[in-house]
Amino acid sequence: MNAAVRAVVRMGIHCGSDVYVIQEGYQGLIEGGDKIHRTKWFDVSGIIELGGTVIGSARCMGFKEREGRRTACLNLIKRSITHLCVIGGDGSLTVEQKALYKKLHIVGIVGSIDNDFCGTDMTIGADSALHRIVDCVDSIATTAHSHQRTFVLEVMGRNCGYLALCAALSCCADWVLIPESPPEEGWEDQMCERLNRAREYGSRLNTIIVAEGAIDRNGNPISADYVKKICTERLNQDTRVTVLGHIQRGGRPSAFDRILGTRMGCEAVLALLDSTDETEAAVIALKGNQMVRIPMMEAVAETQEVGKAIAAKNFDRAIELRGRTFRR
Ligand code: F6P
Repeated sequence: MNAAVRAVVRMGIHCGSDVYVIQEGYQGLIEGGDKIHRTKWFDVSGIIELGGTVIGSARCMGFKEREGRRTACLNLIKRSITHLCVIGGDGSLTVEQKALYKKLHIVGIVGSIDNDFCGTDMTIGADSALHRIVDCVDSIATTAHSHQRTFVLEVMGRNCGYLALCAALSCCADWVLIPESPPEEGWEDQMCERLNRAREYGSRLNTIIVAEGAIDRNGNPISADYVKKICTERLNQDTRVTVLGHIQRGGRPSAFDRILGTRMGCEAVLALLDSTDETEAAVIALKGNQMVRIPMMEAVAETQEVGKAIAAKNFDRAIELRGRTFRR
């Protein structure tokens, strides 16, 4: 996200605007004071290569309350801030922020390792997280190969299978479990057959990737431990579970993410400067390698519909919505 912060600051200054940075997201917006500070060109030097975000991020309950949003608005008005760029996941861009949209020109940039936002081909962070996962799987494969083991890896993504699916493709995994496409009943047998076949063909290891939100067709979670149990009990394979956890969210961002953040940040400033009182809040998206502006409300609603479709076991709908991001 630092690439986006840097680009917004520098493009804003380049276009003649005064640029402020808000520390700790909406929390900082409510607190005001020195959490909202004027930022100069060189204040954002040396941050593009850093992971996370130097301006901080916070889950803010206060912003869900009318009073919190009122205070946030006042803090902006006091400083004559009229244009706001929000960088975050669908939570940060969610409809509760409506109150702000009416008073401000606003544009969103999606930062999320999950790549779970409808309307953009990629979100900032997903590529870096995927690199980290692939690196870990490659490292784990060393042991798996030497000891002829089976590894079950749980990867992040909330209710989105992008990281799991792409990691499985990149690492030639034997099996992958993702929330949008739960396996048919009896999948355990099919998986065992597949794992066995790989060994028969001379493979010394098996790799299974489980998305943290993986479920069966009845909506029950499928855990990495359950998959391990199957491999151990049915195949007598020496099986280990690795939960990658927050390792996926750390470290240096990939070149792709640095460029994506930079392009989105620049486009966000242009979108803000183009906006009139009639312009709807937009999200900057990547579509076919082009920067485009899409309506924020619709994109957030569609993203949240995926979660609802999965919860309602309407997997065709979930895939249809996700499919707009990740086509065959
Ligand atoms: O949305 C990004 C993400 O890393 C998810 O993949 C994961 O489920 C969640 O955030 C973890 O959140 P926290 O850091 O609050 O535990």
